[in-house]
Amino acid sequence: MASTHDMAARGAEVLVASNRGPVSYEVREDGSLHAKRGGGGLVSGLSAIGPDAGALWVCAALSDGDREAVARGVGEEGVRMLPIPADVHADAYNGIANSVLWFIHHLLYQTPLEPVFDAEFRRQWASYEAYNGAFAEALAEEAAEGAAVLVQDYHLCLVPGMLRELRPDLRIGHFSHTPWAPVDYFGILPGDIREQLLQGMLGADRLGFLTRRWANAFTACCTEFAGELGKTQIGVHGLGADADFLRERSHRLDVDERMADLRAQIGEGRRTIVRVDRTELSKNIVRGLLAYRQLLDDHPEWRERVVHVAFAYPSRQDLAVYRDYMTEVRRVTEEINAAYGTPGWTPVLLNLEDDFARSLGAYRLADVALVNPIRDGMNLVAKEVPVVSDEGCALVLSREAGAYWELGEDAIVVNPYDVLETARALHEGLTMKPEERAERTKRLSAAATALPPAKWFLDQLTALRELQPT
Ligand code: F6P
Repeated sequence: MASTHDMAARGAEVLVASNRGPVSYEVREDGSLHAKRGGGGLVSGLSAIGPDAGALWVCAALSDGDREAVARGVGEEGVRMLPIPADVHADAYNGIANSVLWFIHHLLYQTPLEPVFDAEFRRQWASYEAYNGAFAEALAEEAAEGAAVLVQDYHLCLVPGMLRELRPDLRIGHFSHTPWAPVDYFGILPGDIREQLLQGMLGADRLGFLTRRWANAFTACCTEFAGELGKTQIGVHGLGADADFLRERSHRLDVDERMADLRAQIGEGRRTIVRVDRTELSKNIVRGLLAYRQLLDDHPEWRERVVHVAFAYPSRQDLAVYRDYMTEVRRVTEEINAAYGTPGWTPVLLNLEDDFARSLGAYRLADVALVNPIRDGMNLVAKEVPVVSDEGCALVLSREAGAYWELGEDAIVVNPYDVLETARALHEGLTMKPEERAERTKRLSAAATALPPAKWFLDQLTALRELQPT
């Protein structure tokens, strides 16, 4: 990335904006700041354009450590963290982005009682506007004439429109990493809020989605609620797994060690059904457990012969509904282990602590991978497992995951709400012949890696730059 000095002189040529940035800070006991670098599609995408591309990543300060880093003037080259006040950020991120927009796009409300759009909602919405405004201003300040700006996700829906007002010369893109809600569900939002969200997005020159299904849902909402799309172009870019990274990383010593530990816990000769998720409401972990219990009822021959390895890593723990969900995952697991477990066999191995090396170990040894979200923008676990699997793995996949559109043919497809069907799918996965499993895994892996993160990012950048100025 270009040095901060260069960019100050001429402005950044490529800008990425997202709530969560590539680095986070922690204040240590001795008062020093410790930086932690994150991974993911955007990180490898941006690195693909090289250090001299004049790129800048604008993100929010999320923690006290991040805010302290900004206050002390500590930062990474090519990253600008916005010191949004903690209360404004909490209202925008927890209150609006994660409790309203995430729920709308993933169909998560229990509608007899929620949502309730009251005065508190309006107060939080004002914070969402302020938070989007802070991003738009920072981007307007940092961008070179005619630069390309790639705004990410539902946190920043208003940014394209706001930025267009400030800097009509820029090429503005927005990418949705989530599904988009169907018209009737999007219609739950108050009319003026719907309008503001759609007009905010339509301020972009180009809008990217993970699948055609989500792109179509967005255009349907525009037709219904905003009249038309205007000049905004719509693109579909199905982010794939990073094969080179995963293959190398999954064969390091720490992964081998975790695999040995896991094998010891699972027990000699037993089959495995593996799931790895954030403990996210949309991931459907509880119905996954219920389906596993159903499998043990329908096919008692699997008792003592299979283990469900469930990794459910903490996520969004500021929200009570996420904490309650985690409690429910624990409760159902304990219930199954108490009802079916024997002295030598624990039916469900649940682990709630994030450990990437252990996840890769589980991917490598899985006989069946269970990916059954209620609704998911893509779901990269479904794409990563076939890439690193040692001996082939059957994939049980929800038809509501974006990945279904690319992997559906070689997966065992389920309706995520249908626990009986999911139990049958688990049985089918466990009994699939090794040759068929290996063949399917090969095809799944090829489909999963068709669009690696670097190309995913460059394709969007190129498409944005090629647009005729409006
Ligand atoms: O899927 C949408 C998304 O914003 C992803 O880009 C990200 O991996 C995930 O949600 C995590 O969300 P959070 O930043 O709230 O942990």
